Amino acid sequence: MSEKFLWGSATAAYQCEGGWNEDGKGPSVWDTFCHSPANTTGITGDVSCDFYHHYAEDIRMMAESGQNTFRFSISWPRIVPKEDRIVNEAGLAFYDRVLDECEKYGIVPNVTLVHYDLPEYIGQKGGWCYEGIADEFAYYAAVVFQHYGERIPLYVTINEPNHNAYCDYCVGNYPPNHKNDLQSYAHCLYNMDVCNAKAIREFREMGFKNSQIGIVQGCGPATSLQDTPEYREAVKYCDYFCNFGILDPAIKGYFEPELLEAVKARGIDLSFMKDEDLEIIKNNTVDFLGQNIYSRLIVKPNESGITAFTVNNAGNNDGTCKTARETRAIAGWFESDRDTDTRLNKWGREIYPKCAYNTLMLRKERYGNIPIYVTENGHGCYDVPDENGYVEDDDRIAFLNDYIGWILKAKEDGVNVKGYYCWSTMDLYSWINGYKKRYGLVRVDYEDGLLRRIPKKSYYWYRDFITEHKDV
Ligand code: BG6
Repeated sequence: MSEKFLWGSATAAYQCEGGWNEDGKGPSVWDTFCHSPANTTGITGDVSCDFYHHYAEDIRMMAESGQNTFRFSISWPRIVPKEDRIVNEAGLAFYDRVLDECEKYGIVPNVTLVHYDLPEYIGQKGGWCYEGIADEFAYYAAVVFQHYGERIPLYVTINEPNHNAYCDYCVGNYPPNHKNDLQSYAHCLYNMDVCNAKAIREFREMGFKNSQIGIVQGCGPATSLQDTPEYREAVKYCDYFCNFGILDPAIKGYFEPELLEAVKARGIDLSFMKDEDLEIIKNNTVDFLGQNIYSRLIVKPNESGITAFTVNNAGNNDGTCKTARETRAIAGWFESDRDTDTRLNKWGREIYPKCAYNTLMLRKERYGNIPIYVTENGHGCYDVPDENGYVEDDDRIAFLNDYIGWILKAKEDGVNVKGYYCWSTMDLYSWINGYKKRYGLVRVDYEDGLLRRIPKKSYYWYRDFITEHKDV
């Protein structure tokens, strides 16, 4: 792989592929959830923007805007559809076609093994809390490594373990929809740590010389608006909760004893931890960190005595969510704080470009010179097209310009940043938010029956930005 800075954009299988039951694909937990009454919106990823059939066009458009890398995920149930572990050759062939297109244009693939969409047969057995999940994941990972080998120079094991576990077991908006279940949250994160390490063990056994493997983290380090001992404690506990339980084992190969003590002191039973797993974790750490960057995680001491988690998925239809918030609170540990001087997006998420810089600098402080790819960064909007479907998304351009500016500053200041991926390549399904919350550089017309792709103003802006910053 060339040492050039990577400029690209990102997608995920369930969010863009469609073809949910085509060519031997098995159901994922998201297929099952979206088809069930628990999905009160009735909106699914069954078709989405149909990347399954439009991939050639999408990758061509990426290349035409100067992007030299593409982050996407493989659908695990497309490759291993059933419990019998029989590999679906048609599933493998689909991603071969995607990789062919990438190669045609010199686009470096950055490929995630699982981006939320566990196979349903794993979901039935307890999903991320199923005790056999790490062996199933390692089996699937080995199939992928064996088949694609060094055609894929950058592999990612799991997308956003923290956010996935958080939505599954704390907020309850993602399947299996548990609320405030901290015991399962801890178990889920631990199993993800083991999944990551066991997949990396398979990867190392392949002896690749030109491929690397990493993990993608969903949030930045916690921060606070005041610097007192109490506020510093709140920050520490939030980092235990959101960051260190994943990143320490993945990057350093161990859990901080203080973290484990703090978790036990909350009454969480850690008897699921096993010495043999800890040994595998110790010996199988990542080559790089993928860091998604959206906003700050601001916390203060928990004054409410409440444990509660909220997100705002309500913005699907009405655009009235200007003040709704994403909050998290754990009694005795921390709760969310709000800086009233900053702007929120329509889903109540703070827009604070400098968080990109702070995140990267703090990662370097804790994890040294590890290579970092900014694997997602983007702005969800209710885009308004003109009569030709063209979107003048100046707000998105300003967002990207400001965030990227801080990322490049962190690079100048010594962080080993090696690439940047805008979320998302084209409009796609936004989990519980459906299709009205759009992130794409390219608009998808969901109404015209053709799923026509129309580049937005941000697409052209990004093309010019890349040209000017090719050699950063
Ligand atoms: C990241 C996920 O957390 O944020 C993506 O990896 C997701 O899959 C993106 O789409 C934006 O979040 P949302 O909920 O607004 O689509």
